[in-house]
Amino acid sequence: MPEIDAYWAGEQTVLCRDDRSGLRAVIAVDDTTLGPGLGGVRLASYPSPQAAATEAQRLAAAMTMKNALAGLPYGGAKSVIISSGPIPERAALMGAFGRFVARLRGTYIPGVDMGTTTEDLTVMATAGATVSCATTDPSPWTAAGVLAAALAAARHEFGDDDLTGRRVLVQGVGHVGAALARSFADRGARVYVADIDAGRAVGLAQDIGAIAVPADRALATPSDVFVPCARARVIDAPLARRLDTRIVVGAANDVLADDSVADVLAERRIVYVPDFVANAGGVVQIHALADGWDTARLDNAVAAIGDRVTTVLTAARRYGTPLRAAQEQARRIVRAAALLPV
Ligand code: NAI
Repeated sequence: MPEIDAYWAGEQTVLCRDDRSGLRAVIAVDDTTLGPGLGGVRLASYPSPQAAATEAQRLAAAMTMKNALAGLPYGGAKSVIISSGPIPERAALMGAFGRFVARLRGTYIPGVDMGTTTEDLTVMATAGATVSCATTDPSPWTAAGVLAAALAAARHEFGDDDLTGRRVLVQGVGHVGAALARSFADRGARVYVADIDAGRAVGLAQDIGAIAVPADRALATPSDVFVPCARARVIDAPLARRLDTRIVVGAANDVLADDSVADVLAERRIVYVPDFVANAGGVVQIHALADGWDTARLDNAVAAIGDRVTTVLTAARRYGTPLRAAQEQARRIVRAAALLPV
């Protein structure tokens, strides 16, 4: 069934509709070989319901790889709540979504993603859903993991991870991007920040001694390290052909328009760290909380993201691109688990 297989991404896609709250949502469970599907809830607007479903499925597939490579006992899943303007009753919306999650009986464990908060997760939990990290925002650990990834990529590309004077461009200075911009500034980098919320970018720039650039000029701003921390599919092939940078490493999920963009970046000798390798700090912290890890164990696990980046960038010589190297490693982990007796 090659045609249907190409269309049918993942194990299960649930379209959710609740007229009382106005909820329209998609839950995509990509793969549960390693455990229940763990992945965030994104609240965003989409040009069509199909676009929302495709985004949920793509993000869910990336979660499978992220959790596998991070050595976590979770599969991959993701959901999107379709936003169509101001939300009159947020709690009603999140409660309705939580009831859909509860019906999946633990197959999907939602977390925070763009547009949602730990308060939303608490509402979902009250509605019966099993949720991750309802009390703690994982963003600081995501930022710490991306920093470890960026330093490993710098060692690979520049020979050392001294960022003094290096131009680092952070696109999107929300929960993760702001913390990262601060860390890069602390390390002496020349930091450029951009956000569609211009006031947020300017305020942060003043605070940390960075330079704010208008959001619509960000992708034309030369840098040594480009750190996308905003939305999905920022880099398409035309942008990859003109992007003036040496390293791309960030938190934004699904940052390439499609996998072939990784080939364009590789042809131009731009080091691309796959998003699902770099941004695993948050899921590591979620598991650490659930499993009762102490701080030292959590810090080591987040720092290990840097080691994984080194492995992936080295393996890229054999596989052609870091993306293919990381995908192959993740698939191997899932395949090996699938062969184990249950
Ligand atoms: P956030 O919602 O706190 O911040 C995103 C920021 O990007 C906002 O300030 C927003 O105004 C800005 N933005 C949106 N579109 C933009 C554009 N076109 N140009 C410039 N700025 C733009 O989100 P958060 O939590 O910081 O996450 C950032 C990215 O990292 C997202 O793609 C998310 O999926 C991903 N991620 C986040 C994790 C976390 O722990 N928060 C974990 C793994 C991935």
